[in-house]
Amino acid sequence: MTIDDVSTDPAIDAVPVRLRPGDARCPGPNYADIVVDDSVPPPAPILEQSYAFRGDDDIPYDEFTSPDYLQAEFDHMWSRTWQWACREEHIPEPGDYYVYDVGDYSALIVRGPEGDIKAFHNACLHRGTQLKPPASSGFSPKLRCPFHGWTWSTDGDLVDLPCEWDFPHVNAEEFALPQIRTGLWGGFVFVNFDDCAPELMAGTLEEYLGDLPRHFDEAGWDLSDRYVEVHIRKKLPANWKAAAEAFLEAYHILETHSQSVMTAGDANAQYDVFGEHISRFEHSIATTSPHVPAEKRPDEQALLTMLMSRKNPDDPVPEIPEGERARDVYARHMQQVLGKAYDNDFSHLSVAETIDSIEYYAFPNAFFFPGLQIPMTYRFRPDGDARDGGVDRAIYEVLFLRPKPKSGKVPLPAEPFDLDVDDSYTTVPGIPGSLGVVLDQDTANLAAQTRGFRSSKKRGQTLGNYQEVRARHLHDTVRRYIDESAAADVT
Ligand code: FES
Ligand SMILES: [Fe+2]
Repeated sequence: MTIDDVSTDPAIDAVPVRLRPGDARCPGPNYADIVVDDSVPPPAPILEQSYAFRGDDDIPYDEFTSPDYLQAEFDHMWSRTWQWACREEHIPEPGDYYVYDVGDYSALIVRGPEGDIKAFHNACLHRGTQLKPPASSGFSPKLRCPFHGWTWSTDGDLVDLPCEWDFPHVNAEEFALPQIRTGLWGGFVFVNFDDCAPELMAGTLEEYLGDLPRHFDEAGWDLSDRYVEVHIRKKLPANWKAAAEAFLEAYHILETHSQSVMTAGDANAQYDVFGEHISRFEHSIATTSPHVPAEKRPDEQALLTMLMSRKNPDDPVPEIPEGERARDVYARHMQQVLGKAYDNDFSHLSVAETIDSIEYYAFPNAFFFPGLQIPMTYRFRPDGDARDGGVDRAIYEVLFLRPKPKSGKVPLPAEPFDLDVDDSYTTVPGIPGSLGVVLDQDTANLAAQTRGFRSSKKRGQTLGNYQEVRARHLHDTVRRYIDESAAADVT
């Protein structure tokens, strides 16, 4: 819906339309208007819309700066939500392990002898030593504590207790490693640290993910059919929620990433919230931002030239056929380029799936892009706990998930490439320089925002009703977990 659409009575056309909060949209064609004219239309989930006004109260800065609030998040939210911990291919063989940490919580995920996946609380039952270091991975057919050597099988059974004669009070059954619930979706291993979470708060992974698996099934998207081409692990100078918010909206593109306004939409992106834990934006590529005035907008042929010369100046630019637009031709071009690069045939994909930025957020830590050209997966979490400055620091991981080649060997998952706060993404091998610049621009904002949260006289952030609804949904969901846990504790 555009602003022009809301007035149906010509008699009131001259009167400024007073919209209800959240009803306004950027004037001109919005995402749904753009994709419906695509030469290959998108699958039904891309056309679904799910937006409702969620209020317009400020989001208090205390929720970003207070160690007590972060502690409440750990106690009531991070401890009870499903979080993506690793990819299945990070632990392909029996005995492989991977450690996922958030705050004080640490999950040791292992592949068992039968190929099954289990997760254990990463702490020895003797004197508490962590069995494996934070963020480590590797091969360990037995889980042996580095302190005194108590040892468990990958099924969690206590199989060796040095000087057993001194521990008549320890029986193997009671000293099995406590498990953490796991779930699998899309090639991702999820964990939930709470094994007795109230139904509303956790339930099964499938229940928790709500519309996300349905969308992927209906559209035929399968992230388990991808491999990890690039893995970046970056330290960000911001509360995890501020860091995540920066990737939940396209509103900041005009000011922060203005280099892309000629060839990408922004204010006309679509925002959706699906149930308790899922939100999405859809943002068109190979269109020009509505912010660009008419006299400066490239025609479709010029737009196609800009897009193609940016990728490879030597590629000949085809004439756009009658009835098509730059994005139709560009999508076919990218299907060929990426088909060659990744040994696949992508010619069945719609224009939107091929080139647009389609991002799903599964609260609290996971972002999934099902598209072909923009194939990232992100996750955000606090870097550290409430005692040591974790309120102002986040870990941001970016994985490029590329289609597995149809013939030949699937590459092993890329090792993480670590970037400290001041390190530039442009130094990462294998990522396009233009993306590195974009991500560096985001980091600079986050550092300034973290300082501003404390220096501001106004004590909260004021969000746009539509474009920033996903940020509001994030905060609403954190609060819901904290409030519902507090209520449950009282009863
Ligand atoms: S603390 Fe683990 S064996 Fe002693
Ligand atoms: Fe950005």
